[in-house]
Amino acid sequence: MEMKSTMSFLFLLQALINVVSAFKPPPIPPEDINVYRCRNTGNYTSTNYKNNLISALSAVAKNIGAHGGFYQSSAGTTEQVNAVALCPSYLNSFFCESCVNKSIPLLQKNCPNQKEGVTWVASCMVRYSDRKISGVLDDWVWVHLPKDPIVAKVRELDQAVSDLASRLQTQAAGGTSLKKFASGNTTYGMEKVDLYAAMQCTPDLSKEQCTKCLFSTMLTVHSCCSGKLGARMLSPNCYFRYDHDQFDNIDVLPRATSIR
Ligand SMILES: *[C@@H]1O[C@H](CO)[C@@H](O)[C@H](O)[C@H]1NC(C)=O
Ligand SMILES: *[C@@H]1O[C@H](CO)[C@@H](O)[C@H](O)[C@H]1NC(C)=O
Ligand SMILES: *[C@@H]1O[C@H](CO)[C@@H](O)[C@H](O)[C@H]1NC(C)=O
Repeated sequence: MEMKSTMSFLFLLQALINVVSAFKPPPIPPEDINVYRCRNTGNYTSTNYKNNLISALSAVAKNIGAHGGFYQSSAGTTEQVNAVALCPSYLNSFFCESCVNKSIPLLQKNCPNQKEGVTWVASCMVRYSDRKISGVLDDWVWVHLPKDPIVAKVRELDQAVSDLASRLQTQAAGGTSLKKFASGNTTYGMEKVDLYAAMQCTPDLSKEQCTKCLFSTMLTVHSCCSGKLGARMLSPNCYFRYDHDQFDNIDVLPRATSIR
């Protein structure tokens, strides 16, 4: 009898540990995402293209910090290369510049000869192309990054995400030719859980183009990321991001390092 109850106690204890560890929040992953996509529509072979690419990207890296987190540059008279970078407006200029600095080698390494490529490192986007970039909505690639786990209140979360997104879409698209960004927060469920979100378009897009781009992010959030703790929907022209934590400059730093 004694033995049996000890056994069942141990069994219960183990079951309890399993339940507790299943619900233990996962360690916060470093926010450093390293995503890149090379467009498979053509490769370059000339050093002229390569040199133009290097100049366009360096001009972007050099100027983005002083230009509010958005900069476009073109280089070359023949085989012109256009480059662009966009930092979320919640990054300050120092972190924006360092994010772009980090992105360029990654892009060059991973798209070694493609005429067009894009990367998202931490929170910034860097892209280059042989075609016109400015004012063009060119959603040739979408990247969806769901963040685990699934929350307990899926329906409430999805509704809150959708409501917040609609509000931010209008605000972001209604921005200026220098900035089309909106961020906000809300709560959901009985427990009033905090939720944060941000949306942004490259500001060279028109209001209509930005609305359209952000609308695509809102459509896909349901299919890719329903109930997820957080998610990012990234395109070369816009993004939508939500999470249960606020977004800030910490994004581009290793978590353990303190800022001095
Ligand atoms: C471009 O080069 C890559 C290898 O770097 C190759 O996989 C790809 O098929 C090439 N694309 C075209 C359109 O030739
Ligand atoms: C970015 O790179 C440039 C050129 O290498 C350098 O001068 C600048 O200090 C870097 N900026 C940051 C914030 O790392
Ligand atoms: C949450 O939103 C309110 C307004 O809706 C704003 O005043 C507040 O600063 C926001 N808080 C954070 C942490 O973003």
